[in-house]
Amino acid sequence: MDKLFVEGPVTLNGSVKVSSAKNATLPILVATLLCPYAVKFDSIPDLMDVSTIIKLLQSMGVKLSQSGDETTLDATTLMNQHADYALVKTMRASVLVLGPLLARYGVASVSLPGGCAIGARPVDIHLMGMEKLGAQIQIENGYIKATAKKLIGAVITLPFPSVGATENLMMAAVLAEGETVIENAAMEPEIDDLADFLIAQGVKISGAGTSRIIIQGIPIERLKPATKPYRVIGDRIEAATFIIAAIMTGGEVKVEGFKPKHLTYVLEILKKMGADFVADENSLTVKKSNRLKGVAIETAPYPGFPTDVQAQMMALMSIVEGSSIVTETIFENRFMHVPEMGRMGARVTLKGKSALIEGVESLSGAPVMCTDLRASAALILCAMVAKGTTEIQRVYHLDRGYEKIDEKLTNLGARIKRVKG
Ligand code: EPZ
Repeated sequence: MDKLFVEGPVTLNGSVKVSSAKNATLPILVATLLCPYAVKFDSIPDLMDVSTIIKLLQSMGVKLSQSGDETTLDATTLMNQHADYALVKTMRASVLVLGPLLARYGVASVSLPGGCAIGARPVDIHLMGMEKLGAQIQIENGYIKATAKKLIGAVITLPFPSVGATENLMMAAVLAEGETVIENAAMEPEIDDLADFLIAQGVKISGAGTSRIIIQGIPIERLKPATKPYRVIGDRIEAATFIIAAIMTGGEVKVEGFKPKHLTYVLEILKKMGADFVADENSLTVKKSNRLKGVAIETAPYPGFPTDVQAQMMALMSIVEGSSIVTETIFENRFMHVPEMGRMGARVTLKGKSALIEGVESLSGAPVMCTDLRASAALILCAMVAKGTTEIQRVYHLDRGYEKIDEKLTNLGARIKRVKG
């Protein structure tokens, strides 16, 4: 397992371009299962999670070809509609194959994803929605066994605006008979991007990005290749990570390749803490600022504060003036960065869903361990401002969702050495 050795404190300066969004790329690659033709993509991110989903699609018979920045996935003929536990257990987004397989073949056998470090992460909302569309669902030996003569459009009200369930049901509705309305849908920009991809294939969708999404089902023959390779939106979570890194290290950094409007609430909170930045449509430049002040935040579905930026925000809070409170409402176990940050001198007290963070003057380098993707990012942020060397273990968590983050940070002035393990 690779390790990172990070020297601190450093000041980051320069510009960095974020990669395409992991959480848009995954559902969009899965959506190619609906298409009986080759689909071209431009610059999909080189991430472990992307490789995992491509491996899963290939195990069903999807053909992959690459030339330069262009990736082609061809699901013209599939060999099976089975998503095996061996792959699904490593990445729960694999459950997204359920919708397209049911829609196109009327059958799917998908391993239950099981929990992960940050929570139990059930899929009951996905399954409820599929049954509303007319699917029969059995759970046998850890697999979702789903069948449907023909999916029929329906009105589906989600009990919670689940991102994955919204995406799964959007894809299932594409080939269902008639109109499907998803009420209380997730509104994340990644949902909007999935809709844009499906619209580019000829699907009629309205309301994506709002809590009410309407999909007109069409016969598979009406799906047509898009006119040009599809480029996924920039990764707003990666962008937020770099923005917070620049603020913490007191440098001036331009973060490019994403839409600041996708981080409105995060930017409002950072401004309230005293950060200074200038944004245009596709980039944001962080300016040097004085020491920030503490604040209280609560994670929520979009457009609220994103849970995927919670750990990174806590890293910043650990060195601001005064105290902060973070309440995590989306996942039940998303504070695993706290004990590791504590080893570096952060002062964080946990109480149920909330964490109280007392800002300290400085952190100190220490050996720490990654536990999940965003917790790993928080540890790198702390390590860049800590005095001395921080050894970060189990870096594979980081490689799941950040493309070459150590190289990108080094180009901005960080002192990071990756030791292959
Ligand atoms: C997506 O996960 C993202 N992953 C997560 O990003 C992100 O944290 C999450 O949305 C929330 O924004 C991808 O897009 C690949 P949910 P997802 O369904 O779809 C509960 C990262 O770091 N729930 O909105 O799994 C669930 O347990 C990852 O990039 C049910 O109870 O999120 C959780 O508590 C981590 N039943 C809450 O809803 C269901 O059927 C949010 O889950 C589905 C979800």
